[in-house]
Amino acid sequence: MLGSLRVFGRALLLTSLCLIAPMALAGMGASYLPNIPLITHEGEKVRFYDDLVADKVVAINFIFTDCPDTCPAETAKLLRVREALGDRVGDDIFMYSISIDPERDTPEVLANYREKFGIGPGWTFLTGNEEEIILLRKRLGLYMEEIQGDDGDHNVTFIVGNDRTGKWIKRSPFDNPISLANLIGYDLFDGQILRKNAKSYHQVPKAPEYSRGEYLFRTRCESCHTLNGGDQNRLGPDLLGVTERRDRSWLSRWIQEPDIMLEEGDPIATELYIQYKKLAMPNLRISEADAEALIEHMASQTDARRKRLAEASRRRLEAPAPN
Ligand code: HEC
Repeated sequence: MLGSLRVFGRALLLTSLCLIAPMALAGMGASYLPNIPLITHEGEKVRFYDDLVADKVVAINFIFTDCPDTCPAETAKLLRVREALGDRVGDDIFMYSISIDPERDTPEVLANYREKFGIGPGWTFLTGNEEEIILLRKRLGLYMEEIQGDDGDHNVTFIVGNDRTGKWIKRSPFDNPISLANLIGYDLFDGQILRKNAKSYHQVPKAPEYSRGEYLFRTRCESCHTLNGGDQNRLGPDLLGVTERRDRSWLSRWIQEPDIMLEEGDPIATELYIQYKKLAMPNLRISEADAEALIEHMASQTDARRKRLAEASRRRLEAPAPN
């Protein structure tokens, strides 16, 4: 009796949670999603619904290649999501980035952009007719008239969905990449992973409490930079020791307005830009106080690393010599 009551209560709780989940858009299917023609970065003609979405689990965002800040940051974040999903992308999960500046973003421009970011298979870039793409964004609920400024500001939300179950969810690409991967690779499959040997992303550890600087680093910088001495390749350089390599005021300004420094021909900025495949670090609109917090965090990580190394070498020296 008690047991069944509990089960009943739980079911009730789950249903009401579903009802209030603000971002779930149920029932978007063939009749609602426009079947507009699009062209892939490889020049292939496809139809939005029939070829890209029908029967699939998909992640879709809108970008334009000329966008200096939000798009590269978003692309970098999605790269981490892609990495977490591994070879399921292109197998049972498909990623699409659709241009909102289709006149400029020809298939060739999109192909170059993909290459610059080192994007692998299973993640297609698409262009098409501007009016039709606007219609698509409206239908997906990713178009907001009021922020459609001339400065290229666009809604940075992206949408993931499973056409088979009709479950669609909008998320910010600035969410933690592991929880995004978990959402796409597990939740959208209703917990049932179709492929036999696919990994589960269900065991996501709870995020610990971070300092402001660490929090900013993890949410804004980590998709492009490591801070550990560089054992992983990301889009930008490893930042351990950068607080010693560079002048503090240079660093602070760089974090706030790298685009302006590059434009002004700052020699370090120019050299880095060439070294990093002409992929410019985006202006992430970091305030001065936040830049300081980030510098503090990078400096403290560098210090901690040096202490660990010193400790290790002291132990080695103190160890009895082998004979
Ligand atoms: C979209 C990728 C991307 C993001 C996000 C990003 N960076 Fe960068 N960053 C780069 C690239 C690429 C470079 C190399 C210079 C260039 O090409 O502009 C760079 C260079 C740097 C440098 C100079 C390194 C050196 O050796 O002097 C610092 C410092 C830096 N970034 C800090 C940050 C911080 C702090 C954040 C987060 C607030 C951040 N970056 C976010 C891509 C990124």
